[in-house]
Amino acid sequence: MTRRSLTGIKPTGIPHIANYIGAIRPALAFGERYDAYYFIADYHALTTVKDRRTLIDLTYEVAAAWLAMGLNPDRATLYRQSDLPETFELSWILGCVTPKGLMNRAHAYKAAVADAQAQGKADVDAGINMGVYCYPVLMAADILLFSADVVPVGRDQSQHVEMTRDIAKKFNLTFGDVLTIPELVVSATSASILGVDGRKMSKSYDNVLPLFAGPDETARLIRRFKTDSTGADEPKDPESTGLFQIYREIAAPDDTQRIRAALEAGTMSWKDLKETVFELLDGFLAGPRERYRELMADKAQIQRVLAAGAERARPQAAELLARVRHAVGREPVRL
Ligand code: TRP
Repeated sequence: MTRRSLTGIKPTGIPHIANYIGAIRPALAFGERYDAYYFIADYHALTTVKDRRTLIDLTYEVAAAWLAMGLNPDRATLYRQSDLPETFELSWILGCVTPKGLMNRAHAYKAAVADAQAQGKADVDAGINMGVYCYPVLMAADILLFSADVVPVGRDQSQHVEMTRDIAKKFNLTFGDVLTIPELVVSATSASILGVDGRKMSKSYDNVLPLFAGPDETARLIRRFKTDSTGADEPKDPESTGLFQIYREIAAPDDTQRIRAALEAGTMSWKDLKETVFELLDGFLAGPRERYRELMADKAQIQRVLAAGAERARPQAAELLARVRHAVGREPVRL
Protein backbone atom coordinates (compact mmCIF):
# COMPACT_ATOMS: atom_id res chain seq x y z
CA MET A 1 0.00 0.00 0.00
CA THR A 2 1.23 3.50 -0.75
CA ARG A 3 2.37 5.21 2.40
CA ARG A 4 0.89 8.53 3.34
CA SER A 5 2.75 11.82 3.74
CA LEU A 6 1.18 14.90 5.24
CA THR A 7 2.36 18.44 5.68
CA GLY A 8 0.78 21.72 6.75
CA ILE A 9 1.36 25.15 5.29
CA LYS A 10 0.82 28.07 7.62
CA PRO A 11 -0.59 31.05 5.70
CA THR A 12 1.31 33.82 7.44
CA GLY A 13 3.21 35.42 4.57
CA ILE A 14 3.48 35.72 0.82
CA PRO A 15 5.55 32.78 -0.48
CA HIS A 16 9.10 33.65 -1.49
CA ILE A 17 11.95 31.89 -3.26
CA ALA A 18 13.51 30.54 -0.03
CA ASN A 19 10.11 29.02 0.91
CA TYR A 20 10.07 27.36 -2.47
CA ILE A 21 13.58 25.93 -2.21
CA GLY A 22 13.37 24.96 1.45
CA ALA A 23 9.77 23.84 1.87
CA ILE A 24 7.52 23.82 -1.20
CA ARG A 25 9.77 21.90 -3.57
CA PRO A 26 10.83 19.19 -1.07
CA ALA A 27 7.23 18.72 0.09
CA LEU A 28 5.99 18.44 -3.49
CA ALA A 29 8.60 15.78 -4.19
CA PHE A 30 6.82 13.56 -1.66
CA GLY A 31 3.80 13.55 -3.95
CA GLU A 32 5.73 11.35 -6.35
CA ARG A 33 6.23 8.45 -3.96
CA TYR A 34 3.51 8.93 -1.36
CA ASP A 35 -0.22 9.36 -1.04
CA ALA A 36 0.36 13.03 -0.28
CA TYR A 37 -1.79 15.29 1.89
CA TYR A 38 -1.23 19.05 2.03
CA PHE A 39 -3.32 21.50 3.96
CA ILE A 40 -3.51 25.21 4.63
CA ALA A 41 -3.15 25.51 8.42
CA ASP A 42 -5.36 28.58 8.71
CA TYR A 43 -6.27 28.05 12.37
CA HIS A 44 -2.60 27.77 13.24
CA ALA A 45 -2.14 31.14 11.54
CA LEU A 46 -4.86 32.54 13.76
CA THR A 47 -2.41 32.45 16.67
CA THR A 48 -0.70 35.47 15.06
CA VAL A 49 -2.92 36.82 12.27
CA LYS A 50 -5.61 39.01 13.83
CA ASP A 51 -7.18 40.59 10.80
CA ARG A 52 -9.92 38.85 8.84
CA ARG A 53 -8.99 40.31 5.44
CA THR A 54 -5.36 39.28 5.93
CA LEU A 55 -6.28 35.70 6.79
CA ILE A 56 -8.61 35.47 3.80
CA ASP A 57 -6.03 36.88 1.39
CA LEU A 58 -3.14 34.80 2.70
CA THR A 59 -5.19 31.62 2.52
CA TYR A 60 -5.89 32.20 -1.18
CA GLU A 61 -2.35 33.36 -1.94
CA VAL A 62 -0.72 30.41 -0.29
CA ALA A 63 -3.09 27.87 -1.86
CA ALA A 64 -2.57 29.49 -5.28
CA ALA A 65 1.21 29.50 -4.80
CA TRP A 66 1.38 25.77 -4.11
CA LEU A 67 -0.94 24.99 -7.03
CA ALA A 68 1.08 27.25 -9.31
CA MET A 69 4.36 25.66 -8.24
CA GLY A 70 3.11 22.22 -9.22
CA LEU A 71 0.80 20.74 -6.60
CA ASN A 72 -1.55 18.56 -8.63
CA PRO A 73 -4.87 18.33 -6.78
CA ASP A 74 -5.93 15.32 -8.86
CA ARG A 75 -3.06 13.28 -7.49
CA ALA A 76 -2.62 14.80 -4.03
CA THR A 77 -5.17 15.96 -1.49
CA LEU A 78 -5.18 19.70 -0.73
CA TYR A 79 -7.59 21.09 1.85
CA ARG A 80 -8.00 23.81 4.42
CA GLN A 81 -7.51 22.77 8.05
CA SER A 82 -10.59 24.61 9.32
CA ASP A 83 -12.83 22.70 6.91
CA LEU A 84 -12.23 19.58 8.99
CA PRO A 85 -13.89 20.18 12.37
CA GLU A 86 -12.74 16.68 13.38
CA THR A 87 -9.28 18.21 13.83
CA PHE A 88 -10.40 20.35 16.73
CA GLU A 89 -12.21 17.61 18.60
CA LEU A 90 -9.15 15.39 18.28
CA SER A 91 -6.99 18.29 19.43
CA TRP A 92 -8.95 18.54 22.68
CA ILE A 93 -8.74 14.83 23.34
CA LEU A 94 -5.00 14.82 22.67
CA GLY A 95 -4.59 17.82 24.97
CA CYS A 96 -5.96 15.66 27.76
CA VAL A 97 -3.06 13.19 27.45
CA THR A 98 -0.40 15.84 26.83
CA PRO A 99 1.74 16.76 29.83
CA LYS A 100 1.74 20.52 30.34
CA GLY A 101 5.50 20.34 30.87
CA LEU A 102 5.93 19.14 27.30
CA MET A 103 4.33 22.36 26.04
CA ASN A 104 6.53 24.44 28.37
CA ARG A 105 9.51 23.05 26.46
CA ALA A 106 8.27 23.99 22.97
CA HIS A 107 10.82 26.21 21.21
CA ALA A 108 8.27 28.72 19.94
CA TYR A 109 6.70 29.17 23.36
CA LYS A 110 10.10 29.39 25.06
CA ALA A 111 11.20 32.02 22.54
CA ALA A 112 8.08 34.08 23.32
CA VAL A 113 8.76 33.83 27.04
CA ALA A 114 12.41 34.82 26.51
CA ASP A 115 11.19 37.78 24.49
CA ALA A 116 8.92 38.96 27.29
CA GLN A 117 11.76 38.58 29.77
CA ALA A 118 14.17 40.50 27.54
CA GLN A 119 11.67 43.33 27.44
CA GLY A 120 11.65 43.35 31.22
CA LYS A 121 8.00 42.30 31.49
CA ALA A 122 6.97 41.20 34.98
CA ASP A 123 4.61 38.59 33.51
CA VAL A 124 6.67 36.28 31.30
CA ASP A 125 3.46 35.08 29.61
CA ALA A 126 2.52 38.61 28.60
CA GLY A 127 1.18 38.67 25.04
CA ILE A 128 1.19 34.87 24.70
CA ASN A 129 -2.22 33.45 23.83
CA MET A 130 -3.41 29.89 24.47
CA GLY A 131 -3.25 29.19 20.74
CA VAL A 132 0.51 29.70 20.81
CA TYR A 133 0.79 27.52 23.90
CA CYS A 134 -1.34 24.68 22.50
CA TYR A 135 0.03 24.97 18.97
CA PRO A 136 1.89 21.63 19.12
CA VAL A 137 -1.26 19.77 20.23
CA LEU A 138 -3.22 21.11 17.26
CA MET A 139 -0.36 20.10 15.01
CA ALA A 140 -0.44 16.60 16.49
CA ALA A 141 -4.17 16.47 15.71
CA ASP A 142 -3.53 17.49 12.06
CA ILE A 143 -1.05 14.67 11.66
CA LEU A 144 -2.70 11.90 13.68
CA LEU A 145 -6.15 12.48 12.19
CA PHE A 146 -4.85 11.06 8.90
CA SER A 147 -2.63 8.34 10.30
CA ALA A 148 0.24 9.92 8.38
CA ASP A 149 3.28 7.67 7.96
CA VAL A 150 5.72 10.48 7.23
CA VAL A 151 5.72 14.20 7.89
CA PRO A 152 8.12 16.20 5.72
CA VAL A 153 8.98 19.52 7.37
CA GLY A 154 11.74 22.09 7.62
CA ARG A 155 14.17 21.85 10.51
CA ASP A 156 12.28 24.49 12.52
CA GLN A 157 9.29 22.14 12.77
CA SER A 158 11.08 18.97 13.81
CA GLN A 159 10.44 19.45 17.54
CA HIS A 160 6.71 19.69 16.83
CA VAL A 161 6.74 16.37 15.01
CA GLU A 162 8.74 14.77 17.84
CA MET A 163 6.06 16.03 20.21
CA THR A 164 3.37 14.52 17.99
CA ARG A 165 5.10 11.17 18.33
CA ASP A 166 5.23 11.52 22.13
CA ILE A 167 1.56 12.50 22.31
CA ALA A 168 0.50 9.61 20.06
CA LYS A 169 2.46 7.11 22.14
CA LYS A 170 0.92 8.46 25.32
CA PHE A 171 -2.57 8.16 23.82
CA ASN A 172 -1.95 4.59 22.65
CA LEU A 173 -0.58 3.58 26.06
CA THR A 174 -3.59 5.07 27.79
CA PHE A 175 -6.42 4.01 25.47
CA GLY A 176 -5.05 1.29 23.19
CA ASP A 177 -3.36 1.20 19.81
CA VAL A 178 -5.37 3.58 17.67
CA LEU A 179 -2.91 6.19 16.44
CA THR A 180 -0.12 5.75 13.89
CA ILE A 181 3.24 7.03 15.13
CA PRO A 182 4.50 9.22 12.27
CA GLU A 183 8.06 9.40 11.03
CA LEU A 184 9.77 12.76 10.88
CA VAL A 185 11.53 13.67 7.63
CA VAL A 186 13.52 16.88 7.72
CA SER A 187 14.09 18.27 4.23
CA ALA A 188 17.76 18.27 3.25
CA THR A 189 17.56 21.67 1.59
CA SER A 190 16.41 23.48 4.70
CA ALA A 191 19.80 25.23 4.75
CA SER A 192 19.05 28.91 4.73
CA ILE A 193 19.17 31.08 1.66
CA LEU A 194 20.49 34.63 2.18
CA GLY A 195 18.09 37.46 1.44
CA VAL A 196 18.38 40.84 -0.27
CA ASP A 197 20.17 42.44 2.72
CA GLY A 198 22.56 39.52 3.27
CA ARG A 199 20.76 38.11 6.30
CA LYS A 200 18.81 34.83 6.15
CA MET A 201 15.88 35.31 3.76
CA SER A 202 12.84 35.67 5.99
CA LYS A 203 9.56 37.49 5.98
CA SER A 204 10.40 38.93 9.39
CA TYR A 205 13.51 40.66 7.98
CA ASP A 206 11.57 42.04 5.03
CA ASN A 207 14.38 40.90 2.70
CA VAL A 208 12.61 38.32 0.56
CA LEU A 209 12.31 37.67 -3.15
CA PRO A 210 8.59 36.91 -3.57
CA LEU A 211 7.78 34.13 -6.05
CA PHE A 212 5.11 36.11 -7.86
CA ALA A 213 6.30 39.69 -7.76
CA GLY A 214 6.47 40.02 -11.56
CA PRO A 215 9.54 40.71 -13.74
CA ASP A 216 10.04 44.41 -12.92
CA GLU A 217 9.89 44.02 -9.17
CA THR A 218 12.02 40.85 -9.33
CA ALA A 219 14.64 42.69 -11.39
CA ARG A 220 14.63 45.60 -8.94
CA LEU A 221 15.08 43.34 -5.91
CA ILE A 222 17.84 41.35 -7.59
CA ARG A 223 19.69 44.58 -8.38
CA ARG A 224 19.45 45.53 -4.72
CA PHE A 225 20.82 42.18 -3.52
CA LYS A 226 23.76 42.65 -1.22
CA THR A 227 27.17 41.68 -2.61
CA ASP A 228 30.60 42.50 -1.23
CA SER A 229 32.85 45.18 -2.69
CA THR A 230 35.06 42.85 -4.74
CA GLY A 231 35.85 44.50 -8.07
CA ALA A 232 34.43 43.22 -11.37
CA ASP A 233 37.61 41.33 -12.33
CA GLU A 234 38.61 40.13 -8.86
CA PRO A 235 38.04 36.56 -7.57
CA LYS A 236 34.78 36.28 -5.62
CA ASP A 237 33.28 33.99 -3.05
CA PRO A 238 30.08 32.70 -4.70
CA GLU A 239 28.62 31.63 -1.35
CA SER A 240 28.77 35.16 0.02
CA THR A 241 25.49 36.14 -1.62
CA GLY A 242 22.05 34.53 -1.74
CA LEU A 243 22.01 35.09 -5.49
CA PHE A 244 24.44 32.28 -6.15
CA GLN A 245 22.60 30.01 -3.70
CA ILE A 246 19.38 30.62 -5.60
CA TYR A 247 21.08 30.04 -8.93
CA ARG A 248 22.56 26.75 -7.74
CA GLU A 249 19.17 25.48 -6.53
CA ILE A 250 17.36 26.25 -9.78
CA ALA A 251 19.95 25.87 -12.56
CA ALA A 252 21.40 22.70 -14.07
CA PRO A 253 24.56 21.46 -12.29
CA ASP A 254 26.78 22.16 -15.33
CA ASP A 255 25.66 25.77 -15.49
CA THR A 256 26.22 26.15 -11.75
CA GLN A 257 29.78 24.85 -12.14
CA ARG A 258 30.43 27.30 -14.96
CA ILE A 259 29.12 30.29 -12.98
CA ARG A 260 30.99 29.26 -9.84
CA ALA A 261 34.25 28.96 -11.80
CA ALA A 262 33.74 32.35 -13.45
CA LEU A 263 33.07 34.08 -10.12
CA GLU A 264 36.05 32.41 -8.48
CA ALA A 265 38.32 33.28 -11.39
CA GLY A 266 37.19 36.89 -11.40
CA THR A 267 35.85 36.75 -14.95
CA MET A 268 32.28 37.48 -13.86
CA SER A 269 31.15 40.62 -12.06
CA TRP A 270 28.39 40.75 -9.46
CA LYS A 271 26.42 42.76 -11.99
CA ASP A 272 26.75 39.93 -14.52
CA LEU A 273 25.63 37.47 -11.86
CA LYS A 274 22.58 39.57 -11.14
CA GLU A 275 21.61 39.58 -14.81
CA THR A 276 22.20 35.84 -15.09
CA VAL A 277 20.09 35.10 -12.01
CA PHE A 278 17.32 37.36 -13.24
CA GLU A 279 17.15 35.59 -16.58
CA LEU A 280 17.13 32.17 -14.99
CA LEU A 281 14.42 33.07 -12.49
CA ASP A 282 12.31 34.95 -14.97
CA GLY A 283 12.25 31.92 -17.26
CA PHE A 284 11.68 29.50 -14.41
CA LEU A 285 8.81 31.49 -12.94
CA ALA A 286 7.06 32.51 -16.17
CA GLY A 287 4.71 29.50 -16.23
CA PRO A 288 3.91 29.45 -12.49
CA ARG A 289 3.37 33.23 -12.53
CA GLU A 290 0.79 32.88 -15.27
CA ARG A 291 -0.99 30.09 -13.42
CA TYR A 292 -0.89 32.06 -10.15
CA ARG A 293 -2.46 35.11 -11.82
CA GLU A 294 -5.16 32.95 -13.32
CA LEU A 295 -6.03 31.40 -9.96
CA MET A 296 -6.00 34.68 -8.08
CA ALA A 297 -8.24 36.24 -10.73
CA ASP A 298 -10.80 33.47 -10.23
CA LYS A 299 -10.87 32.53 -6.55
CA ALA A 300 -13.82 30.19 -7.19
CA GLN A 301 -11.26 27.88 -8.81
CA ILE A 302 -9.25 27.78 -5.59
CA GLN A 303 -12.39 27.26 -3.55
CA ARG A 304 -13.38 24.32 -5.72
CA VAL A 305 -10.00 22.68 -5.21
CA LEU A 306 -10.16 23.16 -1.43
CA ALA A 307 -13.75 21.93 -1.27
CA ALA A 308 -12.93 18.81 -3.27
CA GLY A 309 -9.94 18.15 -1.01
CA ALA A 310 -12.02 18.52 2.14
CA GLU A 311 -14.66 16.26 0.69
CA ARG A 312 -12.11 13.57 0.02
CA ALA A 313 -10.41 13.97 3.40
CA ARG A 314 -13.39 14.22 5.72
CA PRO A 315 -14.67 10.64 5.62
CA GLN A 316 -11.18 9.46 6.60
CA ALA A 317 -11.00 12.01 9.40
CA ALA A 318 -14.44 10.95 10.62
CA GLU A 319 -13.42 7.31 10.60
CA LEU A 320 -10.30 7.90 12.71
CA LEU A 321 -12.17 10.19 15.07
CA ALA A 322 -14.87 7.54 15.55
CA ARG A 323 -12.18 5.08 16.65
CA VAL A 324 -10.70 7.66 19.01
CA ARG A 325 -14.10 8.45 20.52
CA HIS A 326 -14.76 4.77 21.01
CA ALA A 327 -11.36 4.27 22.64
CA VAL A 328 -11.84 7.06 25.18
CA GLY A 329 -15.39 5.99 26.10
CA ARG A 330 -17.57 8.31 24.13
CA GLU A 331 -20.43 6.10 22.97
CA PRO A 332 -22.78 7.39 20.31
CA VAL A 333 -26.23 8.15 21.74
CA ARG A 334 -28.99 6.45 19.80
CA LEU A 335 -32.19 8.40 19.89
N1 TRP B 1 3.60 24.50 12.09
C1 TRP B 1 3.86 24.33 10.69
C2 TRP B 1 4.64 25.58 10.21
O1 TRP B 1 4.63 26.58 10.86
C3 TRP B 1 2.59 24.20 9.91
C4 TRP B 1 1.83 22.96 10.28
C5 TRP B 1 0.64 22.93 10.94
C6 TRP B 1 2.20 21.61 10.00
N2 TRP B 1 0.24 21.63 11.10
C7 TRP B 1 1.15 20.81 10.55
C8 TRP B 1 3.30 21.00 9.37
C9 TRP B 1 1.21 19.42 10.45
C10 TRP B 1 3.35 19.61 9.28
C11 TRP B 1 2.30 18.82 9.82
O2 TRP B 1 5.24 25.53 9.18
